[in-house]
Amino acid sequence: MEFTLSGTCIIGLQWGDEAKGKMVDLLSQNHDLVVRYQGGANAGHTVVVGDDVYKLHLIPSGIIHPTVLNVIAPGVVINPATILAEIQSLIERGMNLEGRLVMSQRAHVVCPWHVEEDKLDESLQDDQENIGTTLRGIGPCYRDKVGRKYALRLIDLIQDGLADKVERIVAYKQKILNALSPSPPALDSQAITAELVEQGQQLKPLIADTNHLVLDAVAQGKSILFEGAQGALLDIDHGTFPYVTSSNSSGVGVCAGSGVPPRWINKVIGIAKAYSTRVGGGPFPTELHCETGQVIRDIGKEYGTTTGRPRRCGWFDAVAVRYTSRLSGVNSVSLMMLDVLSELDEIKICTAYKIDGEITENMPADTETLRRAEPVYQTLPGWKVDVSQMEHFDELPENAVNYINTISELLKTPIEFVSVGPDRQQTIKCKNAPVVA
Ligand code: GDP
Ligand code: IMO
Ligand code: MG
Repeated sequence: MEFTLSGTCIIGLQWGDEAKGKMVDLLSQNHDLVVRYQGGANAGHTVVVGDDVYKLHLIPSGIIHPTVLNVIAPGVVINPATILAEIQSLIERGMNLEGRLVMSQRAHVVCPWHVEEDKLDESLQDDQENIGTTLRGIGPCYRDKVGRKYALRLIDLIQDGLADKVERIVAYKQKILNALSPSPPALDSQAITAELVEQGQQLKPLIADTNHLVLDAVAQGKSILFEGAQGALLDIDHGTFPYVTSSNSSGVGVCAGSGVPPRWINKVIGIAKAYSTRVGGGPFPTELHCETGQVIRDIGKEYGTTTGRPRRCGWFDAVAVRYTSRLSGVNSVSLMMLDVLSELDEIKICTAYKIDGEITENMPADTETLRRAEPVYQTLPGWKVDVSQMEHFDELPENAVNYINTISELLKTPIEFVSVGPDRQQTIKCKNAPVVA
């Protein structure tokens, strides 16, 4: 399979778990660098190579290809314990990471108090639906990054003065936990410092100024694949706020998080499932509460990679994905999990919303308005054939091609790849795929 060499972004167009990991792994064979630039260990990206299944949270999905340099850029929030465990598990599986993984000095550190705050925020019952976070401390860490006064970056772990910083932050955090938590955990600043120092020393060989590294790579004409985490509907600025994550997970986040200016980005591939899923709270207009939703969950094995939670399942929402495709500036879409729909007699696509009696094709900005959206559906016949072993577009049944083309037309975007199973091999390059320099 041939791919265009370029500065390419892989962006989830729904609420995450669109199978970005699979596409990053597949495309990384033709790239020199893979850069993760936002989110943290809330992400769970699965790569399947034959019998080997890798579940990656912080390490970029380019790690499976031995020639790729994997970069964790400043916009990512890193829990040192989590990344050390992830590194260890890959080494135990026989992978040589020597010279293939680097992380930014500027990346913020997810500390023990962030995880406690995340748990606390989710446990406080008020009249608002819970966000249903992954409890990885992501929101509290980004909150401190924006707040600036009580934040730690990776560079702080390997420099003098860490103990004083931790002591000051712990004093502040303990007050908050004591005031809000029914059973406040006791933060031991000395123990936390000792742990962070130890983790910093272990990570030190991998910590670098990735801004210069990546900009030098660009100057040398190397090709970069940017690996988005989460999905554009979870974007902090442009998603279904407040039921979002705390970073810019749509295409607009690539430059800010990676430190690579827009000038060097020449292709964006949006990743979308052939249906929709969502984990956690928040509006989901096409959600299926019936048996079909359960059929999709069972066949698609729709249970969270990070938390194991059952994912909410529903029909493909072309209103939402058209919005996120435009927002992310996608050149093409990779349509994933087509095989999961193969047993269905008929399949629906949401083409518009009816909100308070009015039909709209635009995604509303307000969450409460989105909750009132009734999907307007186009119903298509199913194909009722196992497509998971098909290798070429021409082999796909007519009704599957019709489904793909209908989505393409609704999104006004070409479909470049169709995925018919988790393995690298189960990927079909579409006919007339766009050629983008
Ligand atoms: P990510 O977070 O976007 O990387 O996606 P996840 O890894 O959380 O979830 C995608 C799941 O779907 C993983 O278990 C993949 O192995 C699996 N997968 C990827 N592509 C396909 C496909 O085309 N068909 C099926 N049935 N499973 C797929
Ligand atoms: P990948 O990269 C799916 C969701 C959580 C929750 C909301 C906020 O695997 O696609 P957070 O812990 O980020 O504060 O949770 O965002 N969420 C994801 N859902 N896939 C993900 O990542 C997600 N990362 C966060 O379920 O609703
Ligand atoms: Mg995932």
